[in-house]
Amino acid sequence: MQFEVFTLLPEVFPSYLETSILKRARERGLIHVNVHNIRDYTHDKHHTTDDTPYGGGGGMVMKPEPVFEAIESVMGRLAAPQPTGKPDSNIPIILLTPQGRVFNQSIATELSKHPRIVLLCGRYEGIDERIRENLVTDEISIGDYVLTGGELPALILIDAVARLLPNVLGDPTGAEDDSHAMGLLEYPHYTRPPEYRGWKVPEVLLSGDHGKIDKWRRQQALERTLRKRPDMIEKADLSKEDLKFIESLKPKVD
Ligand code: ADE
Repeated sequence: MQFEVFTLLPEVFPSYLETSILKRARERGLIHVNVHNIRDYTHDKHHTTDDTPYGGGGGMVMKPEPVFEAIESVMGRLAAPQPTGKPDSNIPIILLTPQGRVFNQSIATELSKHPRIVLLCGRYEGIDERIRENLVTDEISIGDYVLTGGELPALILIDAVARLLPNVLGDPTGAEDDSHAMGLLEYPHYTRPPEYRGWKVPEVLLSGDHGKIDKWRRQQALERTLRKRPDMIEKADLSKEDLKFIESLKPKVD
């Protein structure tokens, strides 16, 4: 899968992309992350990418020309606006902005099905609205708070999407057990030693009985989700047995 990132701060990206799972995924050709500097697509002496807002007010606004030129020159005619306005292409052109739909695991799964996506990182007080209206096809926020730009949100999106791609995670079960993947928070994990400062690893995990272990993990995931994120329980895909277990917990959590 290919990520085309457009930013005014390309230097932000390498350190994160050159570590751990994303580094290995890139080395193995499972993902490609191409970072493009919007400033390279300016034509004036000062490489201007922002200007004051029409109508007055504080802050600066990202100019339309360098953004259109950058995306069109990398993506070719695909990104060129059609008479209908939006680009004629199935490649999502995603603006990272606090005004977007709030990112979650199901959006990550949806994006992981595309072979190529464009991520446009906003900076300054905002972007010229013509970029949003005539170039961008989707807007994503990583939460209801305001950051100084879309670079961290873009890295978060790349990370969440990449780990869903085949063979990116070393473990053959992949991201299946991750929190949120099954609509539940993940069960607790333990490793050696079996006892630390008097705190013991739950007996069942040392039993070698995988049927019992699976059941315990499922119940822990259900209990945790009910306690920490009751909103998720309402949307989760639950079996009859799960529902019975949740019923048995209710007096405890209410
Ligand atoms: N840019 C600034 N804040 C943001 C947020 N919360 N999500 C995505 N992009 C942003």
